[in-house]
Amino acid sequence: MTIKKVGVLGCGLMGSGIAQVAATAGYDVLVLEQEQRFLDKGFAGIEKSLAKFAEKGTIKEPAETIRGRLKGTTDRNVMAQCDIVVEAIIENVEEKKKMFAALDGIVKKDSIFASNTSSISITEVAAATKRPERFVGLHFFNPVPLMKLVEVVRTIATKDDTFEAAFEFGKSLGKVPVRTSDKTGFIVNRLLVPYLLDAIRAYEEGVGSIPDIDNAMKLGCGYPMGPFTLLDFVGLDTTYYITHVMFDEFKERRFASPPLLKRLVMAGWYGRKTGKGFYDYADPSNPAPLKF
Ligand code: CAA
Ligand code: NAD
Repeated sequence: MTIKKVGVLGCGLMGSGIAQVAATAGYDVLVLEQEQRFLDKGFAGIEKSLAKFAEKGTIKEPAETIRGRLKGTTDRNVMAQCDIVVEAIIENVEEKKKMFAALDGIVKKDSIFASNTSSISITEVAAATKRPERFVGLHFFNPVPLMKLVEVVRTIATKDDTFEAAFEFGKSLGKVPVRTSDKTGFIVNRLLVPYLLDAIRAYEEGVGSIPDIDNAMKLGCGYPMGPFTLLDFVGLDTTYYITHVMFDEFKERRFASPPLLKRLVMAGWYGRKTGKGFYDYADPSNPAPLKF
């Protein structure tokens, strides 16, 4: 099947990145949001990122040409002609099911549906539609324009041609796709999430300060970001939602939310996106570690 028109649901951290890489790869992209202000915010981020790539000469076309292929909308009916729809809305199973069930009656029948969920069962979301055989997971990584991986997730219902088309689509975006199955957390989050949660528990137990734990993992293990920097970068709200899904599936402490994560989310401190998390981003170029 030929993919020409890409629909993206959500224009937050991930949706904006997915839309950007799809437009950069030459696709016409339609982005659906709840309100215009979220589109404005996401598109401002895309323009900043494209400007950076243009400055470095790493995009083949002028940033305006790529930007010209991107359109935002708050009307889901406009998504009807998309050949593939990639969902990147809030990490909440009911919201995702509601969204796909509604789009199922709007988007042409042979189009592919894909979810960028971090932890939710693709099978469960697909079952809210009448096209579970044309449903996959396409799990991108933050920041999407820079991270090379995409996990392509197959459920027991996914048809071979759908999976292969999604795999090729991932490649066409300049990503390296890996094949995985619909097991909670797929490959990366199955391994990454317990590590991030353990870092919070280590801090709660007084093993080290937030900057010391971050520096230890950066300098001792060669990780590009320490765990607290990465948690703030991913979003503490998203991480907290992920812990619910993963703990519910495995019933193991290593997937459970540490109390401090819950407190930060309850306080509305979601990390970089709200200006405060484990660090204070009042000066974003010099985040100040907090003490709890
Ligand atoms: N678009 C364009 N350019 C960008 C950019 C973006 N979105 N973000 C950063 N850059 C640029 C920077 O401006 C910088 O440019 P200069 O060299 O000209 O200054 C360059 O990229 C490098 O950035 P930084 O100097 O800020 O930092 P860095 O060298 O550490 O690289 C990084 C940034 C690639 C994000 C790196 O820190 C990294 O790999 N971090 C780990 C990210 C990670 O683990 N992501 C996965 C999270 S888990 C997930 O996504 C799954 C889930 O379900 C939760
Ligand atoms: P985010 O909070 O930055 O963005 C979510 C966006 O979805 C918001 O702009 C919100 O307005 C929009 N939205 C919510 N409900 C909507 C609806 N019904 N219709 C249209 N738009 C709606 O979150 P994010 O970090 O971009 O995460 C999005 C998805 O990607 C989640 O499933 C998350 O688990 C997954 N994910 C996140 C990361 C990460 O590092 N943050 C990495 C990989 C995957």
